Amino acid sequence: MTGQTSHPVALVTGGTTGIGLATARQLHADGFAVLVTGQNRDTLAAAERVLPEDVVVLRADARIPGDAEKLAAEVDRRFGGLDLAFLNAGVGRFAPLEAVDEAFYDEHFDINVKGQLFTLQRVLPLLVPGSGVIFSGAVSVELGQPNWSVYSATKGAVASMVRALAVELAPRGIRVNVVSPGPVDTPALDKLGLPGAALADFRETIPVHIPLGRIGTAEDVARMVSFLASPAAGYITGTDILVDGGLSAGV
Ligand SMILES: NC(=O)c1ccc[n+]([C@@H]2O[C@H](COP(=O)([O-])OP(=O)(O)OC[C@H]3O[C@@H](n4cnc5c(N)ncnc54)[C@H](OP(=O)(O)O)[C@@H]3O)[C@@H](O)[C@H]2O)c1
Repeated sequence: MTGQTSHPVALVTGGTTGIGLATARQLHADGFAVLVTGQNRDTLAAAERVLPEDVVVLRADARIPGDAEKLAAEVDRRFGGLDLAFLNAGVGRFAPLEAVDEAFYDEHFDINVKGQLFTLQRVLPLLVPGSGVIFSGAVSVELGQPNWSVYSATKGAVASMVRALAVELAPRGIRVNVVSPGPVDTPALDKLGLPGAALADFRETIPVHIPLGRIGTAEDVARMVSFLASPAAGYITGTDILVDGGLSAGV
């Protein structure tokens, strides 16, 4: 716990919709003081309306290290420290190799890898001993899926970064893990870049491939983050935890 509040403090990047939003709600219910970030003014405003009043909603574009700097200063000013950083902001769009251009590649790596790394770097001085860092990965690292090469590469980079950082930060009492969801029903599905009929087909066929027979919910992932943030997970670091309904085991 930090010095300026009796509550543990959690930062959720990309906390304005989907998994991040559900996790912000879960952590708030768990007793955390919560800050969330996003970059889109509409979703930031919508998050402000639906999240509990005392959740802090901040604009910080994960592509811009200067925004991470300002974010860290704001967390410091408000709370003086941090007990959990959930580095969840991310994007993912389908593209066959021929359609991948530099802008596509850069956007994915800038948000999913560079953004997560530099956000952690900037908030690192605020993380107290006993705190946790959780990165957002994806089951796609385990699977070969067509049209998904760039996105999978970003999540592979994250998984690899987590193992190094877990060892590097362990002497400071900071645990670092990655939570890797399978398909989860969030606004991300509408951003995949699939035409309407293909998206409807994608949604319909997902459960067929999942041993537990349904697509994941944002709350399924939020509960895992909540567990990893809790003292019950105090001996867990450097792991990649799949929340995929058995998808990867069944392949
Ligand atoms: N849904 C799935 O099936 C699934 C599966 C595996 C992994 N994941 C991962 O889970 C994480 C959350 O995804 P989700 O499904 O909850 O998707 P989502 O509903 O689209 O949420 C993405 C979040 O990231 C934020 N974000 C995007 N670009 C940003 C930027 N440049 N700067 C700051 N924030 C940014 C969004 O805010 P804005 O609205 O402001 O852009 C939003 O809050 C992602 O890392 C994703 O790769 C999702």
